[in-house]
Amino acid sequence: MKVVVLNAAAGAGTDRPIEIVPSVLPADFARLGEEVTALEKAGVDRIQWDVMDGRFVPNLTFGPDVIAACRPHVTVPFEAHLMVDEPDALLPRYVEAGCKLLIVHAESTRHLHRTLGHVRELGASAAVALNPATPPSAVAHVLDLCTMVLVMTVNPGFGGQDYIATMEPKITAIRRLVLDGGFDCDVEVDGGIGPTTVSGAATAGANVLVAGSSLYRDTAGLEHAVSDLRSKATSAARPPQGEPA
Ligand code: DX5
Repeated sequence: MKVVVLNAAAGAGTDRPIEIVPSVLPADFARLGEEVTALEKAGVDRIQWDVMDGRFVPNLTFGPDVIAACRPHVTVPFEAHLMVDEPDALLPRYVEAGCKLLIVHAESTRHLHRTLGHVRELGASAAVALNPATPPSAVAHVLDLCTMVLVMTVNPGFGGQDYIATMEPKITAIRRLVLDGGFDCDVEVDGGIGPTTVSGAATAGANVLVAGSSLYRDTAGLEHAVSDLRSKATSAARPPQGEPA
C-alpha cells in the first residue's frame, strides 16, 4: 500500500504522476489509425475511447471492432470509457480489442461491485466514473477494486461542452476518500478540460486529465497542446513548497 502526503491547503493537490489522456471523439473518424498515431507522437500517456450506446447517453460511438482496428497502429495504452447501460456483456469485447483499463459508470449497473470484479477477472484494470449529480459516497465501498475514479466535469454524451467548476469540491472529496483509505488510485477528470480549466482540476486533486476539443483547437498543434496541459497541471498540483495549492 503506497502512502501519499498531500498539500494541506483547500485544494487537495496531488503527488501522483500527472497524465494527459486525449479523447478520440473530436478526431477525424475517416483516418482513426493516423489520428491515434499522431496522438502517440504528441506524447500522451493513454488514449481514451468514449463508448456510447445511445441509451446511457444520447449519442452513439465506438464498437470494439473500431478500437481493435486501431490497436496495431500504436503501443500507447487504451482505456474504454463505457457510457453504456448494463455493461457486463460488453466487457470481454473491449478487453479483447486491446483496452487495458475499463471505466464503468456507477449509474450504469445495479451491481457495481460485481461489475468491477468482472473487469478484474478479465485481466484488465477497473475504474469507476461518476456523473456530475452522483455523490462520492457512491464509490466509497468499491475503491479497493479500482485503480482510478473518473469525476465527470460535464454531463456525458458530447465533446465541446463547458467545464462544470462546481465539481472541484467533489474531486477533492474523492482524493481524500482515496487517501484516507490508503488506496493506490488515480483521480481522472473528463469534460471541458483545457488551458483555462486544467489548473482548477489539478489543484482540486485530479492527476489524470482527459481532453478532447481543446487539444484539436490548439493552433500550435497537438504536441504543444499536450505539453501545455501537462505543465499547467503539474504546477497547479504541486505548488512550490510553502505556497498554498
Ligand atoms: C463526454 C466524453 C468526453 C469528451 C471530452 O461524454 O466523455 O471524453 O469527449 O471532450 P471535451 O474535452 O471536448 O469536453
